[in-house]
Amino acid sequence: MKKTIFENMPDMDKARKRVDSIKTIYYDYKPSKELIDRFSGKYAYIHTHGCQANVRDEETMMGLLESIGMIKTDDPSKADVAIINTCAVRENAEDKVFGEIGEFKNLKAKNKNLVLMLCGCMVEQKHIIEQTLERYPHVDVFFGTHNIQDLLKLLDEYITKKSRYVDVSSFEGNIIEKMPVTRIDNYKAFVNITYGCDKFCTYCIVPYTRGKERSRDINDILDECKILVDEGFKEITLLGQNVDSYGKDLKNGVTFAQLLEEVAKLGIPRLRFLTSYPSDFKDDVIDVMAKYPNIMKYLHLPIQSGSDDVLRRMGRRYTSEEYLNLVSRIRAKIPNIALSTDIIVGFPNETYEDVKKTIEVSLKADYTSAYTFIYSPRKGTPAARLVDNVPYEEKSKRFRELVSALEVNFEKHSKEMVGNVYEVLVDGESKKNKELLSGYTETNKLVHFKGDSSLVGQIVKVKITESHLHFLVGELINE
Ligand code: 5AD
Ligand code: SF4
Repeated sequence: MKKTIFENMPDMDKARKRVDSIKTIYYDYKPSKELIDRFSGKYAYIHTHGCQANVRDEETMMGLLESIGMIKTDDPSKADVAIINTCAVRENAEDKVFGEIGEFKNLKAKNKNLVLMLCGCMVEQKHIIEQTLERYPHVDVFFGTHNIQDLLKLLDEYITKKSRYVDVSSFEGNIIEKMPVTRIDNYKAFVNITYGCDKFCTYCIVPYTRGKERSRDINDILDECKILVDEGFKEITLLGQNVDSYGKDLKNGVTFAQLLEEVAKLGIPRLRFLTSYPSDFKDDVIDVMAKYPNIMKYLHLPIQSGSDDVLRRMGRRYTSEEYLNLVSRIRAKIPNIALSTDIIVGFPNETYEDVKKTIEVSLKADYTSAYTFIYSPRKGTPAARLVDNVPYEEKSKRFRELVSALEVNFEKHSKEMVGNVYEVLVDGESKKNKELLSGYTETNKLVHFKGDSSLVGQIVKVKITESHLHFLVGELINE
């Protein structure tokens, strides 16, 4: 078996620390001639699991690989470099990754030159690296969320030293600017505004895997957005684990509301942002959203639970009443806004009464969509140490009850849309029926309709004719 070089190993104690030593580094790595000779004209494959932050990381990694002449492929069997970009937020995400690593065993047997790399949040956990090193000898390189900028250097090390390589560190993280990027979509783009998270909700692994909350300089963000506007992009989504905290660490007085306004003024047709934290969400953001028509009237505002006891034990810093008050203030100024949320069922020792409160509060908040999860213990987090008296079967039953109640509400909203005309940004052919085009409304509803493929990337008007639970059907309005 090949020897393993351990450059850095992750460590939960270091990951938990919060020190104020964030640096902004401008990327300037010069790849060696050997690296370019070996990989230029060869195929690069990246499969991303998890959230939008991972998707944006994939775009940077593909940008780096293309900078040495590699060609992007969606076919893993063609790959010379394959990267699995992982998610650690729940156990089922990790199980999927292990399944995928297993599938690469055959591909690696067929192509001895294939370099298989594992990165992302899952790798930021020591036990995962140890397990993978032992069970999957065909994984060659491990790198973490903090050293994506080292991708080419790591490939170089791997081909020269011919050893397995682990370089995953746990620290508060830096900000790396001016890295190359290959956007996945030609019309919709993600732009990071903050990295990391300092909220430490008791169930969540993210503050350990992605480091301290740190904000990019407003000028770097605006530069990236200006390029997107000039290139004809139609939609920008500003990304952060908690966008409302933007700027707090910079101590230059710039707030999220100001940043949002500056980006809106650049004239991008559609502007969104993800994710908002209820007690950090400030009313000046509502005013900016109300003022600019190009800021979509859609807000993802995770509640996690409607029970104050569970919220407190989750370490969420608001009550259900404060949450609903915020919703009322938002609706008072933006009556047509669509709200979505994240909800976890089955937090340790949650009662049936707690779940009933969650259903009650959710119906009051009147969501048009929601992401619902069954709690998954994450090693090293405070909640994972709790003894839990609720069997999984019971959690599943409560989960189904919540989902059914929410779906009645979603269907009500979709039905209300029938007969009305909405603007839709056309993504492309529908995945299920090539005769149809698909796109999203301002409020993030998926719509299928007949139309010419020349409309892809345009914002068109569609009259809704049918509503289904997860999508709408409509007719193009020719003006
Ligand atoms: N178990 C279940 N769901 C979780 N989330 C985060 N951590 C966990 C966990 N341990 C959910 C939260 C968060 C979303 C991205 O994932 O709802 O908002
Ligand atoms: Fe996780 Fe809470 Fe941070 Fe969201 S705010 S990433 S749920 S710790």
